[in-house]
Amino acid sequence: MRNKVIIGNWKMHKTISEAREFIKEIDTFAYECQQAGIILGIAPSFLCLAPLQSVANYTLIAAQNVNDQPSGAFTGEISIPMLQEVGIQYSLVGHSERRNYYNETSLSCNKKNKALFNNGLFPIYCVGETLAQYEQHASQKVVEQQLNEGLQDLTGEQVSNLIIAYEPVWSIGTGKNASVEIAQSMCHCIRQTIASLYNQAVADQVIIQYGGSVKLENAKAYLSCLDIDGVLVGGASLQVETFKALVATILQEKK
Ligand code: PGA
Repeated sequence: MRNKVIIGNWKMHKTISEAREFIKEIDTFAYECQQAGIILGIAPSFLCLAPLQSVANYTLIAAQNVNDQPSGAFTGEISIPMLQEVGIQYSLVGHSERRNYYNETSLSCNKKNKALFNNGLFPIYCVGETLAQYEQHASQKVVEQQLNEGLQDLTGEQVSNLIIAYEPVWSIGTGKNASVEIAQSMCHCIRQTIASLYNQAVADQVIIQYGGSVKLENAKAYLSCLDIDGVLVGGASLQVETFKALVATILQEKK
């Protein structure tokens, strides 16, 4: 049985004190979720990682990005040893905003995915097509290529511990979430691609999230799909009450 994984991606929102208040309010709830097989996490800004990790007992704290080099002259970057020192085990890799605004590619993500796994950390590898690609019916092809390139040289064992977030770019921050049918069918394709790149056992273990305008009203429906094991939530994760209510709809279903 795969765990359910719900992560709030805060992007460039919240100061340390705001972030700390939030975690204090959800950490016990995260324990309740954990008891029901649901991992609840937050990906805050780099600055908030250490302060949040020190107050979170049950909430998974993940980085939003990481550099693939252990140290060096890379102004503005954060390394894996820096994350390790404060106890961070997960990092988003290749979020569409990173691909779009900071020129990240599936090949540069591959370096990060490898570096994370080789140091005992876990990537949450984000894939998804743009609106133009969606309209050209190229979604599957695009995502397959992102997987082919992003997962190059990773072992089956590593990929069984991977989280993949399927986030169609046209649905992120637009309020236009992908229909449950589209999300399930794409997540199914992703699982099949993993089966063909590795084997069925690896495909059965990999956790696949849907992300893109997930909100209170639609979160539960995604989680009821066979191939969707969680959600990556942007905007709807910023208000503690809204986020809790969203997660509660999933928790009720599991109980
Ligand atoms: P959104 O963002 O929920 O605000 O669409 C999702 C994401 O970027 O991960």
